[in-house]
Formats: sequence, C-alpha cells, structure tokens
Amino acid sequence: GLATAAGLARRPPVTGAELRSAVPLPPAYTVPLPVPNILRPVAPGRYEITQRVAEIEVLPGIRTPMWTYDGTFPGPTIESRRGRPVTVTHRNELPVPTVVHLHGGRTPAASDGYPTDLVLPPGWADHHAMPDPRAVRSVGTREYTFPLDQRPALLWYHDHRMDFTAPALWRGLAGLHIVRDDAEEALGLPSGSRELPLVLTDRAFAADGTLDYPSIDATLRHRPGVRESFLGGVLGDVILVNGAPWPVHEADAARYRLRLLNASNARHYELEAVTDDGRRLPLVQVGADQGLLAAPVTHVSVPIAPAERYDVVVDFAGVPVGGRVRLLNKLGTGRTAEVMAFRIARRAADDSRVPPVLSADLPSWGPPSRVREFAFSAGQQAGGHGWVIGGRAFDPARTDVTVRLGDVEVWRLVADVHHPVHLHLAAFRVLSRGGRAPLPHDGGLKDTISLRPGEAAEIVTRFDGYRGRYLFHCHNAEHEDMGMMANLEVV
Ligand code: C2O
Ligand code: CU
Repeated sequence: GLATAAGLARRPPVTGAELRSAVPLPPAYTVPLPVPNILRPVAPGRYEITQRVAEIEVLPGIRTPMWTYDGTFPGPTIESRRGRPVTVTHRNELPVPTVVHLHGGRTPAASDGYPTDLVLPPGWADHHAMPDPRAVRSVGTREYTFPLDQRPALLWYHDHRMDFTAPALWRGLAGLHIVRDDAEEALGLPSGSRELPLVLTDRAFAADGTLDYPSIDATLRHRPGVRESFLGGVLGDVILVNGAPWPVHEADAARYRLRLLNASNARHYELEAVTDDGRRLPLVQVGADQGLLAAPVTHVSVPIAPAERYDVVVDFAGVPVGGRVRLLNKLGTGRTAEVMAFRIARRAADDSRVPPVLSADLPSWGPPSRVREFAFSAGQQAGGHGWVIGGRAFDPARTDVTVRLGDVEVWRLVADVHHPVHLHLAAFRVLSRGGRAPLPHDGGLKDTISLRPGEAAEIVTRFDGYRGRYLFHCHNAEHEDMGMMANLEVV
C-alpha cells in the first residue's frame, strides 16, 4: 500500500525570508521544460568547463546575468561510468574566486573542493587581499580528479567557497553529474527521453532582470543587519525546474523516471503528482542521494530538502491524452505551491519496469566503534547571530572531528530548526528519527539528511576511501555561510 508521509507536513520548516520579484512572471505551465545538455569529453575521461558570466533568458523576454558553468543554468551534465575516473578542468573567468565540489562524490581530499582551496581569476590576487592567509590557490584553471569508485547515483557539482557558497549557488553555479553502471541499466527502469533530471531551485528577480539577493557585497556573513533578517535562509518567489519557471513537459502516457535534485539555497519542497481530476499518482521511489534502494518504496508525496535527491518512477499510463499531471509542492503557498506540469501528448508503448529488487550491494556495516553527537543550532559567529555545530562556527584552521579510515561510527544529529545536514565523502544510512524508526523516505544510502525542527536523528557510516580533510555542514546554503560547517579529518 501507499506509505504516507504522515507527520511531515505537521510542523512546517522554519524558513527564510521570501524575496518578491519586481518583474512580470509568466503563467504556469507555458515555458517548455529544458533538459541540461550532456557535456562532451575533450578526450576520454577528460572534461573542460569555463566558469563565466552569461546572460540567460530565465524568464521569457528578460535577460538575467548569471554566474555559469559553460554559459548555461544549470551547468552541463557530466555522465560517467562507475569506477572510470574523470578529470574536469575548470577555468575561472568569473570576477570572484571559486571552488568546485562534487556533492556526493567519493573524492580524494585534494579534489573535494575545500572552501579555502580557491581557483582565482587571473590577476585577482594583484588587486585583492587573500581572505584567509592559509588559503590554497590555483590561478586561472584547476584540474579536479574524480575516481568515481562508487555506486551509480545522481551527483551534482556546485560552488563551495567559504562564506560565499549561498550567493554563488543563487547566481547559478550548479550542475549535474550522473554516475551509471551496467547493473542499473539492466534493470529496465524508464530511460532515454523517459529519464528526466529535474533540478528544483527558487529565485527572485529585480526590476532590471538581475537576480535579487539580499546583500550588495554578496555574502551575508559580514553584513550583520542583513544577516539577521535572513537567518532562515533566502527564498525566491519563482520556482524553476532545470532553470525554467513553472515549466511544462509533453510526455507519453508511460512510465517516467524523475531524478529530482533540490538545488535551492533554503527552500524545502514536498512533491506530489496530481492529475486534473485530483488523483495523486503514486511516486515509486527507486533511489536516494547515493543510488538505488534495495527495493522500491511507494509514496503519495516526497519531501525534498536542499541538496537531497530522490529518484522516483511515476506512471502516466492511466492519464487521458490531453490531460495534465502537475507536480505540486505541499509546503508552498500561492505560486510556490506549483512546480511544473506534464501534458500527456500521446499513447505509447512502454517496456520499462520497476523490478521488485533493485540493488543487492547496499553495505551492511558492523557495530560502530564510536558514537558521537552534534547539535545544529543558532549561535554566535563573527560578532552576531549565526549558526553553529556543537556551539562553534566554522573555522578552517580547526579540526573538529578526527575519524579513522575504515571505522564505522554512529552520529547523533540534533537540530533546533530545520537543517539539511550533509556529510562529505561517506555515504550513510538513517538509523532512527526522534528515537523511532526512520521515515518511509529515509531508505537507502544518503549523503544529506533533513533534520526537522527539534529532532534528533541517528546515522551510521563507514569512513572509507580516502584520508584527509573533509567537511560536514548544513546545506541550507545561508546557514552554511553563516558558520554551520565543521572539519572532519580522516586519518
Ligand atoms: Cu553540496 Cu559541502 O556540499
Ligand atoms: Cu541549517
């Protein structure tokens, strides 16, 4: 039967302030859904991306300058095979230093995009003081190497510069990286044009078409008055899917695999697929942040916090041609309650399936060698209110946690308000929430867990793969920039 997400909507997340756009917004379901283009390698396993300012027509007829990967928003999608290493050379032609992190990647520390491991625009250092004397720098370009020795999954790459991640994401620095393998392809899940990545973001637009963001110097951390009013994070009043406002997609009356990413700075969604006559189509979850579940789980709605991914199959076979299925957001109000629509254009053959067993390689970790607890809460940082972990704001010079390579640990995470907590390097499982069993959507391997207000949750992981300095942090991007991040040293 349908697993309900009962209780999820009971306590709405503490959200940030919503900015109001000052330009005319298009009616919903008129702009066609774009799909980010697949990046071509320059040589086998080698990619090049130029980070540059580009004018993007996000809203029809309005040109919006954005910070982009290769001139598009979202950036180009990289498609990789499990275990085949990939090198991406990023060229920084933006007016600011950048850092690239592959979210969900099992990546050696040198390529993990530490927040002070900067790629400077050429000539930048001649005119600017380094923000942190310990910062590492590359000038102009930087090569990131990803072994991708990990389960197939929808990963994403995005900027991760210290104190500036939120404004950089907001301006457009995010793209997808899909890892595939033969076993997953052999399952027969919907594929080709019936596998759709859907990147959810929200934005607000100023009267001149530029993106609105509440800080003229582009970081909230150093703007006390402004920071206090956006403690909950920054929300926009325009919902974008793959960079288009409330788009529509012409679909076959068949199964679709929707690979959902919430790339919003601070907005939470709870998605449902609703037909014109008010029926909720089952959302059959086949995967989580870190790839396939052991077996499918059917939901009526799927909550998705910033940085989380849900891989769901929805079947349009029972929808009449000409009919519509809307993806709605139960946590929104007015126009933020609408996301996108599918217009069922034709009947079509469908040989896809959702097999009862999806994956047999989910790890089962032995008993933990350590249990730790971390409180995610409001606190003091940089002389004002901010966000802290264990009472401390992020400091790149301090090691907060040291773990041994190969150790299994249980972490108990406690939240005051809603915090989506992300761990670099190590995929984890959710063991419990509020002292009870995990929720129906907590299954599989995760790298981000949505902690609800006042909630404690336990996760278990094994620190595998690489030694070095990694991070864990809140993925509400404004919380992250306002101090809610910590260092994890794997030794
Ligand atoms: Cu998606 Cu540390 O980031
Ligand atoms: Cu947070």
